[in-house]
Amino acid sequence: MYFIANWKMYGNLSSINTVKNVINLSKKTKFKKIKIIYCPPYTLLRPLIKKLRKSKIQVGAQNCHTDNEFGAYTGSVNAKMIKSVGGKFVIIGHSENRLEGDSNKKINLKIKSSLKENLKVIFCIGENLKEKRNKKTNKILKSQIINGLKNVKNLNNIIVAYEPIWAIGTGIIPKSNDLDKKVKTIKKILNKRFKSKNPKVLYGGSVNSKNISDLTQISSIDGFLIGGASQKSKNFIDIIKKTIN
Ligand code: PGA
Repeated sequence: MYFIANWKMYGNLSSINTVKNVINLSKKTKFKKIKIIYCPPYTLLRPLIKKLRKSKIQVGAQNCHTDNEFGAYTGSVNAKMIKSVGGKFVIIGHSENRLEGDSNKKINLKIKSSLKENLKVIFCIGENLKEKRNKKTNKILKSQIINGLKNVKNLNNIIVAYEPIWAIGTGIIPKSNDLDKKVKTIKKILNKRFKSKNPKVLYGGSVNSKNISDLTQISSIDGFLIGGASQKSKNFIDIIKKTIN
């Protein structure tokens, strides 16, 4: 089971102290097998990596540039730079970045440049409300997967996160039955495209300590990408504890 914390544009140096309790939890036998990954803003990558040095918790970035080499791209960070400070993961294709102009094509370039650096990619896909209402979800998901993963050879370093846009930060989550179906559809598309037996698909969007008990009943889900509720260790720990029981 994966528990990935997406801190978005939240947090300053003092925020990294919040991981202390999560480190303690991760060392308990019962939780040894789970994978906890923090994706803080770029500014906190290094301090967080240092803080987590003696634990099995890993750290990733929330995005990267398409280009792997140094270049004149003001404000950008690339996969090589993330790797050089000890980052192991990178979120690509988050809907908040798609809204800012990340097309499937651009996302594909970012994924390939991250894989080249041996980063593990958390590849976000999901439909918006209009697409859901127009029953376009499966079509959208398929096109995001096929185009986003174009020329990618296998899923060894890819985890897909299904994040319906209408569920992100809204407090609304899909009905269990619908969510199970969507995750299975995604796995089917991945299986067909990659002949992979066991693709990892996470769910993200308003996961919290209240709805987690329902979400963990859905056995097709391999973990969670958690935004708001990952910023305070108490909430994050509650979610982990209620999943691993
Ligand atoms: P949320 O965000 O948990 O705050 O809805 C999830 C995400 O955007 O990854």
